[in-house]
Amino acid sequence: MKGNATTETRLAFIVILLFTLGGGCFADAQSSVAPFGGAVPTQLPGQDAILMGDAWYPEQWPEARWEEDLRLMEAADLKVVRIGEFAWSRMEPSEGHYDFGWLERAINLAAKHHIVSVLGTPTATPPAWLTQKFPDTLRIEENGQRAIHGGRAHGSVTSPRYRELCRKIAEQMALRFGHNPNVVGWQIDNEEGYALMSYDDHARGLFQNWLLAKYKSLDNLNAHWTTSYWSQTYDNWSEIPIPVPMGSHNPGLELEWKRFVTDSWNDYLKNQIDVIRPHADGRQFITTNFMGFFDGFDHYALSEPLTFASWDDYVGSGHVDPDYNGLTHDLTRGFKRENFWVMETQPGAVNWAGVNNFLNRGEARAMAWQAIGHGADDINYWQWRSALNGQEQYHGVLVGPDGTPAPFYDEVSQTAHEFAKAESAFRGTRVVSEVALLQSYDSRWAIDLQKHTEKYDQIGVLKSYYHALRKLSQGMDVVSPYAPLEGYKLVVAPDLNVIPEDLAKHLLDYVRNGGHLVLGPRSGMKDEFNALLPQRQPGFLAEALGGRVEQYFALEKKVPISGAWGEGEGSVWAEEMKTLAPDTETLIRYGKGNGWLDTQPAAITRRYDKGRITYIGAILDDKLMGSAAEWMIHSSGVMPVFGPLPDGVEVSCRSGKGKQVFVLVNFKQEEQQVTLPHAMDLLVSGKKADAFRLPPYGVEVAIEHR
Ligand code: GLA
Repeated sequence: MKGNATTETRLAFIVILLFTLGGGCFADAQSSVAPFGGAVPTQLPGQDAILMGDAWYPEQWPEARWEEDLRLMEAADLKVVRIGEFAWSRMEPSEGHYDFGWLERAINLAAKHHIVSVLGTPTATPPAWLTQKFPDTLRIEENGQRAIHGGRAHGSVTSPRYRELCRKIAEQMALRFGHNPNVVGWQIDNEEGYALMSYDDHARGLFQNWLLAKYKSLDNLNAHWTTSYWSQTYDNWSEIPIPVPMGSHNPGLELEWKRFVTDSWNDYLKNQIDVIRPHADGRQFITTNFMGFFDGFDHYALSEPLTFASWDDYVGSGHVDPDYNGLTHDLTRGFKRENFWVMETQPGAVNWAGVNNFLNRGEARAMAWQAIGHGADDINYWQWRSALNGQEQYHGVLVGPDGTPAPFYDEVSQTAHEFAKAESAFRGTRVVSEVALLQSYDSRWAIDLQKHTEKYDQIGVLKSYYHALRKLSQGMDVVSPYAPLEGYKLVVAPDLNVIPEDLAKHLLDYVRNGGHLVLGPRSGMKDEFNALLPQRQPGFLAEALGGRVEQYFALEKKVPISGAWGEGEGSVWAEEMKTLAPDTETLIRYGKGNGWLDTQPAAITRRYDKGRITYIGAILDDKLMGSAAEWMIHSSGVMPVFGPLPDGVEVSCRSGKGKQVFVLVNFKQEEQQVTLPHAMDLLVSGKKADAFRLPPYGVEVAIEHR
């Protein structure tokens, strides 16, 4: 994003001013989390605080080869292998006959090379004997066809028999490895939700029972879903369908289906956790590898039973977008409001994108350090070595089919050596932020089910707020709207479509206590049943705002906007705002457009009790968003965590007892000069300095003790 010279100068001035006033990530007093409170669950006792590893598949290779693999890993300072997550047919070659000897030998050999193991439960790939003997364990696709064996994620998440079989294999694994000192934790399944649901009669019955338990009576359900519309009224629970294809059914039914899918996956996850926990040492963590912004289920709910959240960070085609990647790290950190792991990331290239180009030299290292800055404590490359056959022959690896290092191995090795050198600085540290972006699955589903304009891109809107606000604050949390908010100086909800009364109360409490709540377009339109609120937007918050949305417009072309944030344009979506209280101020207005919007307010704000509530009804261009962010940060008293930095250099800050650790990454393809407020220890270059240069994809870690 580029601003004009005046905006840039003003931005720089504010950043310098705030830094002088004493910014920095020691701001724990205002933080939403207790940064020094308790052990960081992602950091393993007896291990380095930040780790690097890979996905290793010993079952694909002769045992005689393992030692050489592990030797190469150890030489590269890789300290973790994730292992076993697709090896069901090797662990249970026939029903009830288990063979864990090979796995134990692999784990023990890894330990000999100072490598710990994370065990994956293999339930994303049920073996052929299982699916042939029990075809009811296979999913029914949306088109009514049963999934066939040979891929993965073909098991039905709601099948009682599949659950039972998953339970058995997970329990057997836990009995064998729950006390193995070299097994540090568990990954349940792999990329849960990848293939979502089974659309069969059993799942439908479960859904109907789930609705019965929630609504208690059909009268209640019919009322909330307004089923008098199009003769949808249900007289019997068994009449209620699974809403496929999504987007063509009653919005109440569709939102509940999404929640039912969430509960189904949560039960599937807990089904395995419940048998692993009793047999596993308390020190063994339990996680699962999420997929970033995938919205098949509510990740806040699925994260609850986990020790910590993990995700798989893939770029696919093209190159890393530092904002999107940083945002996704922050999203994952927000699932449990705690540090996380990157369970998989790409070693150069993937095999599944449109163009499977390689990351540039140094790009993966920059990504790895960016992840650490945002709160990751482990990064694993997928995968160690290409299997000679199987669906992913072209995927990036660290070691080629000949068993010798690929060129990318050296970059991983360099990064892992740096991790080993800098690790102690990160011990006990977490990310602390004064600004929160709210992200809600209910709202994402509600908007995406009825976008009203195909151009509406919620992640794009979220990213535009993130980009502008993070540039100034240099640290952001992304959390559920129901998260504790009292620690934040600024809370921004770009698309909070579903705001039931209890959530409105939670948000208002935050404002009453002195917080600044900024709502973005489409906020406060729906209740928890995906029904329109019988008020105009933002519904239960309209009174506090002293204003409301008069009318929303899907835009065919851009509209001019001007006011306190300068001049620019709005696109895609525009809400005509109206002030209703005498003390509600208009910040920006629409210019000449479609006639309806001309001269009408586009953003309004009002002091409310000890805080402030603002509503921005337009999707702003980069320049306007930059000035809007400047205003939000300034009016909320948010301090940047570091201070002025050249364009393209990202800083993140992790705080621990008596220290703050800054991770600086240059994502710009030009060398950049970084000036520190005073000399600090630099952990990558090993110097002490008050300035340094960062080449393209250059990385430095600076530590400040206090
Ligand atoms: C996913 C899976 C891995 C592998 C990679 C390839 O993340 O979890 O098993 O298929 O994609 O990019």
